[in-house]
Amino acid sequence: MQLTAEILRNSLVVLHFIGLASLLGGFLTQMKAMGKGTAKIVPAMVHGAWTMLITGLLLVGVREWMAAMEWAGELDNIKVAVKSIVLTVILVLVLRFKKKDAVAPRVFGIIGLLTIVNVVLAVFW
Ligand code: HEM
Repeated sequence: MQLTAEILRNSLVVLHFIGLASLLGGFLTQMKAMGKGTAKIVPAMVHGAWTMLITGLLLVGVREWMAAMEWAGELDNIKVAVKSIVLTVILVLVLRFKKKDAVAPRVFGIIGLLTIVNVVLAVFW
């Protein structure tokens, strides 16, 4: 049972990274256009943001289960809450501007910046 939980958790972490690659990678493809004020929210960013949310929530569930069974330590709930708030802002911006032909550099930059903020929070906190 513990092995199942570990395989599930590791698989979700892999999917969490694929979501990050999609969100950040989509953003990076638009960096040049951002400089010209013609950046677009590409579908990879929308799919990546949803993937981060879904895999993140499932990871919390699996970690809670593992902690209850004493197979892993407790998650830091404040860290998860902060990451969730940051991702919610990203998701709202991505969904709000996905139909626009050009997104203002400031708005577009915030999406990339907040994504990096969440990577830093995940790694350093
Ligand atoms: C743009 C948004 C996000 C980014 C860039 C991100 C990034 C990361 C990274 C790099 C890791 C691996 C490092 C570590 O284990 O701490 C990680 C793990 C994790 N993330 Fe996220 N994350 C995001 C959103 C979320 C959200 C919204 C949740 C919860 C609702 C979440 C829950 C988790 C959990 C529980 C782990 C730990 C997995 C484990 O070690 O058992 N993440 N995240």
